[in-house]
Amino acid sequence: MFLSGKIPKHVAIIMDGNGRWAELRGLPRIEGHKRGAERTREIITAAVESGLDSLTLYAFSIENWQRPEDEVSMLMKLLEYYLKNEFNNLIKRGIVFRTIGETWRLPANVHGLLRDVEERSRDNNGLRLVLALSYGGRNEILRAIRKIIASNVKPDDLNERCFESFLDTSGLSAPDLIIRSSGEKRISNFLLWQSAYSEFYFTDTLWPDFTRDEFFLALHEYQMRERRFGMVQSKAAARI
Ligand code: IPE
Ligand code: IPE
Ligand code: MG
Repeated sequence: MFLSGKIPKHVAIIMDGNGRWAELRGLPRIEGHKRGAERTREIITAAVESGLDSLTLYAFSIENWQRPEDEVSMLMKLLEYYLKNEFNNLIKRGIVFRTIGETWRLPANVHGLLRDVEERSRDNNGLRLVLALSYGGRNEILRAIRKIIASNVKPDDLNERCFESFLDTSGLSAPDLIIRSSGEKRISNFLLWQSAYSEFYFTDTLWPDFTRDEFFLALHEYQMRERRFGMVQSKAAARI
């Protein structure tokens, strides 16, 4: 699909529906996660092609730790596989990689691989690819507050810009568009602070069925939206 007009700077995706995709086919949930991971690869490529600045993918929430142990450990193995086998290619294509969330809670080898990919992609200047892992918006805000208290910021000096610099997403713009697959219409603790003025695209498509065409469709729908940020249209247009 040809995209003309304004391209969102930052798109964030809640990649949901892997388990249901598998269950509908009588397969174990992990099969849905595997197919989902293949889609993720396709969507990252589409994001590079579309000229986005940043793509944030919600891959594992802080609440997802409460899933059955075997599902969690298989998800970690899948992540390890992708970090070892797919990321070299992404680094070659210029992506700058980072994570948000309590990644130190991930298995040590996965944590090490994440830091390694981050380090090796640091000097690139292509798509900024952000993986939300062991991530929760409330948790991120609380950790930011702890850091602020520890750094002795004076109450009067604390404004929104300062606060944002303590969030995991420091340096990233707020997501212009948040996509959620699988038919659920909720935020599930994703980017609570950052989504204040995001546009939302909800689709019933389960993540393993979410194609690049639908990704471009979501971008196209975003282009039709009128963002006002609480202002009247003429002023808001000047802000974007
Ligand atoms: C999203 O798919 C992937 C993760 C949360 C890790 P789900 O596993 O939540 O799939 P459903 O919602 O059960 O279908
Ligand atoms: C949100 O999906 C987290 C990810 C996609 C990684 P969940 O499946 O965990 O969210 P709920 O439980 O439906 O709210
Ligand atoms: Mg789900």
